[in-house]
Amino acid sequence: MDIGLFKRAYNILRQNGLREFLFRMRKAFARFILPVSAHAVSADVCMEIDDIVRQCRQLLASEAKREPDKEVYRLLKENAPWYQRIELPGHNLSTAEEEDWVVFDGASDNMLGGRLSARGAAILRPLPKWMFIEKRLPPIEGKTVLEIGSNCGFFSFEFARMGAKQVVGVEAVSEYARQANLIKHLLSVDTVRFINRDFLFEEGLPESDILFSSTVLGHMIFPFLGLYKMLKCAKEFVVLDIDVLSVSNPSFDAVCTLQVSNRDRYHFFNFSNAIISDFLRRCGVSDNRVSRYFYSNRCLYIIDVRLLDISPVLKSGNDPLWSNLSE
Ligand SMILES: C[S@@+](CC[C@H](N)C(=O)[O-])C[C@H]1O[C@@H](n2cnc3c(N)ncnc32)[C@H](O)[C@@H]1O
Repeated sequence: MDIGLFKRAYNILRQNGLREFLFRMRKAFARFILPVSAHAVSADVCMEIDDIVRQCRQLLASEAKREPDKEVYRLLKENAPWYQRIELPGHNLSTAEEEDWVVFDGASDNMLGGRLSARGAAILRPLPKWMFIEKRLPPIEGKTVLEIGSNCGFFSFEFARMGAKQVVGVEAVSEYARQANLIKHLLSVDTVRFINRDFLFEEGLPESDILFSSTVLGHMIFPFLGLYKMLKCAKEFVVLDIDVLSVSNPSFDAVCTLQVSNRDRYHFFNFSNAIISDFLRRCGVSDNRVSRYFYSNRCLYIIDVRLLDISPVLKSGNDPLWSNLSE
C-alpha cells in the first residue's frame, strides 16, 4: 500500500475539512469502480502508455545518488518544494533530488490512468505526460512559443532544447515564476523568459506561433475566456492538454463541473470533450482543424488556427433574431 496515499488523505482532511475529504473519497471510489474512460483509446496508445510506464518505473528504480554541485544543491534546497522535476545535468542534480523537495499531491495528471503510483508520478512530474505529448507536437524548431501556466518551467525549457526561437512562460503564482527564473539561470538558457502574470487579465502578450498549456485550463477562473485568448494569441497551433470527464455519451454530453477546495480559495473545472469541441466550433474552429489524442482520462488537442478568424463576440448577424440564417 502506498504510504503517500495516507499522507495525502490526511493533508486533505487537515487543509480542506471533512466535507471536501468525503467528496474526494467518493470521487476516488467512483473512479476505482469505473476506471475505464468513456473515450476509446486505441490499442496502439495503450501499448505506448504501457511502454512509458515501464520507462518511468525503470527511472525510479535506477535513481542513484550522484556527487552534486554543493552550491547548486544549497540553492535548490533553499527554494524547495518543487512542483516539477527539472534535470540539471551540468550540476549532477534535479529539482527532485531529495524526497522532501517534491510536492506530494495527487499528481493524477501524471499517473497515466493509475498505472503509476501517486508517489512515482509526483517524483517524475511532468515527464510521464510529456513522453506522450512530445511525439505529437507540431514542429517547434525556429518557432516562437508561449506557454501558459509554466510553473517551474519544465515544458518551456524542453521547447528551447527542441530549437524554439523564443519561448515565453506565463505563470500566475510568483513563487513558481521565481523558481523558473532560478532554473533558467542555472541552465544558462537565453531563449526562454518567464513572466509572473495571470494570463486571463494580461493584455499585450506576444502573439506566438505555438501556444502550449498543460493542466492549466481547469484552474482558470474563466476557462472559456482563457481558451478564447489562447486561440487569439496563437498564429499556428494551440496545444492544449487537459483532463477530460468520462461521460456516458462522449459525443454529445457537453458537461463542465467545478470542484472548489482549500477553504474555497482554489478550484478546478473539468470538461467533457463535447463541451470543448462545441466551444471551439463557436469560436470558428471547425472539427477538421482539431486533432484529438485521448490517453488515460486526458486529451491532447492540437488545434490548427492558421489563417483562422477567431471572432466569437456576439454581433447582430449572430443573433437568430437579426440574422437570416435558420437553424
Ligand atoms: C496544475 S499546475 C500545471 C503546471 C504545468 N503546466 C504542468 O503541467 O506541470 C497549473 C499551473 O498553472 C498556473 N496557472 C493557473 N491559472 C493561471 C493563469 N490564469 N495564468 C497563468 N498561470 C496560471 C498555476 O499557478 C500552476 O503553476
